[in-house]
Amino acid sequence: MNIQNKVLLGIGSFVGIMLLVGWVAINEPARMEVFTEQWHGRSVERGAALFLSSCATCHNADGKGQEGRAPALQNPMLFLTENPAKVAKAKVADLQTQLKTLTDSQTAYDDAVKNLPDLEAKRDQLASNPDSQEYKDAVSAVETAQAAVRNYDPNTPQKVTDMNTQITTAQSDLDALVAQGWEPDRDVRLVEMGWGGTLADYIEGTLISGRPASKFYWPQAMPNWAQSTGGPLRPDEIQNLVDFILNWQADAVKLTPNDLNQQFKLPVSGPPKQTIAQEFGANPDVTTLDLSGGDAANGQSLYASNACQACHAVEGGAAYPFAPTPGTWTRVIDVRLKDPANAGLTPEQYLAHSILDPNAYIVPGASAGLMPQTFASSLSIQELRDIIAYLATQQ
Ligand code: HEC
Ligand code: HEC
Repeated sequence: MNIQNKVLLGIGSFVGIMLLVGWVAINEPARMEVFTEQWHGRSVERGAALFLSSCATCHNADGKGQEGRAPALQNPMLFLTENPAKVAKAKVADLQTQLKTLTDSQTAYDDAVKNLPDLEAKRDQLASNPDSQEYKDAVSAVETAQAAVRNYDPNTPQKVTDMNTQITTAQSDLDALVAQGWEPDRDVRLVEMGWGGTLADYIEGTLISGRPASKFYWPQAMPNWAQSTGGPLRPDEIQNLVDFILNWQADAVKLTPNDLNQQFKLPVSGPPKQTIAQEFGANPDVTTLDLSGGDAANGQSLYASNACQACHAVEGGAAYPFAPTPGTWTRVIDVRLKDPANAGLTPEQYLAHSILDPNAYIVPGASAGLMPQTFASSLSIQELRDIIAYLATQQ
């Protein structure tokens, strides 16, 4: 090969290599994207497996929650930035304000038209004494009425009709949302929790630390999961779960609350609760209380947090020999209500009476004053209902 050909070959291979490098460079972002997608896809898959093994017992396999146990995570209230029913309710209120402005101006006009002749006659009567206060007042009353007539928009009746139509439509939009289970007075979850960060950070934070402070609202609090807080999961597994939950977004925003099994409960720092003593007096007549509608699961956690458990459910507890938790419901029906002292009470009323006014009837064998006398001034009526519902499960 002569020198010239070698040079040509050298140039040729250089150009070839540059073309190849260029080709690879052009395709790199696409390749990265495919890679990232696959990696993300695998993370979601691993998250799905972890969810089934660790979370489904409480949040349900489809993530729609379990009644009384844990809230839905595949949940529009978690993913949406606004509660549509709240928006719809605000719209109705806004239209009603506009309607009020319109009807007020209509009323002012109607009154002015009706009263103007009388006002003018009165002014003319007083005209003989033009310096008197009465005359000045009469003049200004006429001017006010004239202004109301002058400023009146003749389209007002039509506008009132249109506004009423708009309100009807807006109200039926709101009704439709309420029928789907949306609660117009609630905010979406992150707003309700006062969280300013991203949803991903919120989920990750909840997973790492759990939610121990919510024990009042759920029979079992959300556990902590990260190894850094003593839980079982590695950081990459936590990330897999976050990816898996976020992957519900597209489906979750199409759901309505009626599609879920359990919505978020309100945070503990809600309005202060009203106690039974505040609502019904220190010693209410149990036969007048509505004791239905209790939540047994919540009652169980109240039973523990109010130390009922310690006296009633534990061997060696002060009440265990006379009134053990297991069998309470059957004992009430078969034994307590057969005692003439309790004649006429329903089992619920008997339980309410025992809890609110324990010394009024001492169970045989026990002595007075052992059971705390203060539950009427610490429990709310709903908490009492919940505890009764729980005791009804103790057959
Ligand atoms: C023992 C039952 C239980 C298990 C198991 C459980 N959770 Fe929870 N989780 C809860 C409860 C209860 C709440 C609600 C806490 C609250 O309202 O403050 C909750 C809340 C959450 C929240 C926050 C929702 C919110 O907006 O407040 C996320 C996210 C979550 N859980 C994810 C998971 C994941 C992922 C797993 C599995 C690794 C899991 N949970 C396992 C009971 C559980
Ligand atoms: C310090 C111990 C103690 C605590 C705490 C306690 N109790 Fe009692 N309880 C007793 C004793 C002792 C009796 C039996 C004496 C009596 O009738 O007052 C009793 C009686 C009862 C009875 C009547 C049972 C029957 O078989 O007729 C009910 C119901 C009851 N308690 C419910 C509760 C509930 C609910 C709580 C928590 C909100 C609670 N108790 C907390 C000691 C306790």
